[in-house]
Amino acid sequence: MKIKTYANKIIEIDLNDLSENSNLLALPALIVPHVHFRVPGAEHKEDWQTGARAAVAGGYTTVIDMPNNNPPVINYAGLMEKKKIINEQLKRSGLPLNYALYLGATKNNWTEFEKCAQQIAGIKLFMGASTGNLLVDKKEDQEKIFAEAARLNLLVAVHAEDEATINNNKQGLFHSVIRSREAAIKAVSQALELAKKYKTKLYLCHISTAEEINLVAEAKKEGVTVYAEVTPHHLFLNENDYDRLGTLGQVNPPLRTIKDNQALWQAINDGLIDIIGTDHAPHTLKEKAKPYPNSPSGVPGIETCLSLLLNACHESKITLNKIVELTHDNPQKIFNLPKNNDLVIVDLDLKKEVKNENLKTKCGWSPFVGRALTGWPVAVIINNKIKKL
Ligand code: DOR
Ligand code: ZN
Ligand code: ZN
Repeated sequence: MKIKTYANKIIEIDLNDLSENSNLLALPALIVPHVHFRVPGAEHKEDWQTGARAAVAGGYTTVIDMPNNNPPVINYAGLMEKKKIINEQLKRSGLPLNYALYLGATKNNWTEFEKCAQQIAGIKLFMGASTGNLLVDKKEDQEKIFAEAARLNLLVAVHAEDEATINNNKQGLFHSVIRSREAAIKAVSQALELAKKYKTKLYLCHISTAEEINLVAEAKKEGVTVYAEVTPHHLFLNENDYDRLGTLGQVNPPLRTIKDNQALWQAINDGLIDIIGTDHAPHTLKEKAKPYPNSPSGVPGIETCLSLLLNACHESKITLNKIVELTHDNPQKIFNLPKNNDLVIVDLDLKKEVKNENLKTKCGWSPFVGRALTGWPVAVIINNKIKKL
């Protein structure tokens, strides 16, 4: 079967059992620099067999995984141990998923950065506590991290929520009030100040408010090397979804307002956002069913992101070019990943509902359940092999 590629070439692929009516297009397989595949320590939520299946089902063949594991990945030995386990699990999955890892920052492990530099995609810094026990909330400790990363030309990916602001809000009843927009704005502005001071490459994970976008725009204008990520849940969900989702919608940083959704879309189309990252953060339904605040924060997203974006493309919210730029071209360049020939074949006209029973993630649920989306991945070419979905 002949399929048009995104680069306007025609390629021949053996997909003959697909419907004649399908509107197929081959895109570069997606890359996501922000997932939590839970190894080691929380394999009951996800492991690299289920994670790899979920990634490929979503059109991704490259992921960069976060270090907030148990134990957290904060030194060379931990990094090597994690790689060994991942390689074993991927072998069993039969999927040659490309991956890279972050090293987690603690208040005094910057001395480990140099040893790990060749083995990692960057340093991950939690300025506010989230899942796991990684936290560096004192500015003097953050300074050392930014300085040493800059010296080694390592990127620092930041979970930017200000711990002190969150703690001051602890008497609040709602997640979006406790982890307020001010907490995110304050931490982003501090991270930008440090990146500017030390000339560190800064990757801002999950920008969620209009104010953060303004700070990013300003910093970019001043020449700070800063990259901004948005997640599908901050684009496609907002505080109104708590009624339907309850703690399934609990995520850090929290869901915001419709106005913030709109500001994020505007920022995408203004060229201020560099990457759409999934922040795939699976937790079991049983864990999520605990009463707040004992319920964990995080939502899965790797299987639905591309389809949500293709559906948004039908609604003229985003172009196909932009999707490829934010889910492939930019992550490949920013993280300096080796180029590959991996493709995702999408059927732009295929309409399907998101159903929990169709998901490959071990957690088995999606905050987007019930949405009818038009545009789905139907096959992936990974390492020159076709995997039909
Ligand atoms: O909601 C979140 N979940 N935010 C994070 O920063 C971590 C993530 C997780 O690992 O569960
Ligand atoms: Zn985060
Ligand atoms: Zn995350």
